[in-house]
Amino acid sequence: MAASSSAKVLSTFKPGLFNSKVAIVTGGGTGIGKTITRELLNLGCKVMIASRNVERLQKAAKQMKEELDKDGTADISYQRCNIKEEDQVQSLISNTLKEFGKIDYLVNNGGGQFLSSIGDLSTKGWNAVIQTNLTGTFQMCREVYNQWMKDNGGSIVNITINTISGAPGGGHSGAARAGVDNLCKTLALEWARNGVRINNVAPGPIYSETAAANYKDLPFLTNTIPIIPCKRLGTTEEVSATVCFLLSRAASFMTGQTVTVDGGASLYGHLIFKAADHENSEPYTWGEYTAPTLADYYKNKNPK
Ligand SMILES: NC(=O)c1ccc[n+]([C@@H]2O[C@H](COP(=O)([O-])OP(=O)(O)OC[C@H]3O[C@@H](n4cnc5c(N)ncnc54)[C@H](OP(=O)(O)O)[C@@H]3O)[C@@H](O)[C@H]2O)c1
Repeated sequence: MAASSSAKVLSTFKPGLFNSKVAIVTGGGTGIGKTITRELLNLGCKVMIASRNVERLQKAAKQMKEELDKDGTADISYQRCNIKEEDQVQSLISNTLKEFGKIDYLVNNGGGQFLSSIGDLSTKGWNAVIQTNLTGTFQMCREVYNQWMKDNGGSIVNITINTISGAPGGGHSGAARAGVDNLCKTLALEWARNGVRINNVAPGPIYSETAAANYKDLPFLTNTIPIIPCKRLGTTEEVSATVCFLLSRAASFMTGQTVTVDGGASLYGHLIFKAADHENSEPYTWGEYTAPTLADYYKNKNPK
């Protein structure tokens, strides 16, 4: 399967759309975040990428600068930051302000999870995923607001997951992302008067080299294709385009919203979870009537 992050930059947006703007993209060195960074740079934005693995950030920044720096204007910087750590978040924001003088956009893309059913999940594992995806997003939002956006406005986009039907197999992440969803609505209301907009993008199954590696086997992603009405995986470019739209003036009347980018999957079926057949629900009887069960379903299906 071909990687979605091609060296050729494609953008549907007008060249120069983000000239003189400054963005922070967490997790901007890999996968979805890297494509967002590449598109922002291509549209004239200055970008600070940040995550835990500084070697990977450095390599990605160098690669994108070389790719895009046709006229010497691609302006990208990187800083190590674990979004779980308050002091590192504070210095990421202050150092970005020192380097670029302002912050117009924040993309909270850094995050992740591991697969586990809730019964098998340790409290340590639960806390790690909540701290990364929920607390990390909260700390990034609060710091960028207090250090800059409170007085200057701005636009924030959080990358989440679709949590409308829970997240079996990833309940820690589902709970964290549902928290981000609610936080987004609160901040949209609390910060509108400061000229701050905040929205979420909830991608469905998106192919990237890191996503495939994260889940050790690509089938975890490709197995979802039959229940995606568009009948393919999404690309990092399709997520990036939605992020650029939400950051831009084209979305100036949108705040507190979650935009789902999933080929219609969330309308159709659960991506990985199938409810197992069982006869363990308490029977419900009223008068002479008993609620039909699976046994009745199979009896009707195979009358003999
Ligand atoms: N791919 C999909 O199908 C899909 C679907 C729905 C949602 N998402 C979400 O989209 C986001 C990007 O995912 P991806 O698929 O592009 O995978 P990815 O390449 O693994 O991206 C995750 C990024 O987050 C950074 N990160 C993780 N923990 C961090 C922390 N504590 N502090 C700072 N940065 C941290 C990682 O960098 P370091 O390791 O260097 O810290 C990495 O660059 C994630 O939040 C993911 O859950 C992905």
